[in-house]
Amino acid sequence: MSRAHREYFNQLAPQWNTKVSDDPVLYHYLVRFGITQGDTVLDVGAGTGRLTSHLANLVGLQGLVAAVDIAERMLSEAKWSMQHNHTVFVCSDICTLTLKNGCFDKVICFSVFPHILDPQSALHEIYRVLKPGGKLLILHTRNSRQLNAFHASLNGVVSRDVLPPIQKMEHLASQAGFDSQTLSESENLYWAEFIKPESHRSYRLISK
Ligand SMILES: C[S@@+](CC[C@H](N)C(=O)[O-])C[C@H]1O[C@@H](n2cnc3c(N)ncnc32)[C@H](O)[C@@H]1O
Repeated sequence: MSRAHREYFNQLAPQWNTKVSDDPVLYHYLVRFGITQGDTVLDVGAGTGRLTSHLANLVGLQGLVAAVDIAERMLSEAKWSMQHNHTVFVCSDICTLTLKNGCFDKVICFSVFPHILDPQSALHEIYRVLKPGGKLLILHTRNSRQLNAFHASLNGVVSRDVLPPIQKMEHLASQAGFDSQTLSESENLYWAEFIKPESHRSYRLISK
């Protein structure tokens, strides 16, 4: 766990909602990703819950959203503003989750990946907690070049945080066992979508 990142985001927690906007396009991105009623979804680096409440509305009472963050003050803000009883809050580094294997239909990393110190461990842990056939979306509303320039302009620990170009992300995800679904990087969007293959698929390949 990065103590420096945890402190950095804890300090920002009280003003976070004034710094970021609740852009309606985010809701449409979640629909496009295929979040549906009854899904179990992991919201990685949930912060103050900018995506979490949209996710809770989309999965409905039959579904569940787990909001994970290393910064407890960010999560406190999220809890304070959210009334859904089908949402759980977990204060943890994504690299060392203590959740069960194969319990999520979908995982979303929105505006968090560059801040994770050990991306390979994070991808392995996400792969572990996804169900076979489950999907991961790494989403940003800027491309990697724009985002990396933005981080470099900031003071503090995040100034060295880097989002890999999408081809490098594809390579990292494939090393963790993922297949690529949709990879798209344009001016205002970084969309890296992966799937955990169904286990019977590798059996079929072996038995041919
Ligand atoms: C840039 S903020 C984005 C928060 C939220 N997704 C949003 O868009 O408003 C990044 C968040 O990721 C969290 N974070 C950073 N590294 C993490 C890690 N290794 N595991 C879990 N959360 C992490 C930070 O504490 C912070 O709340």
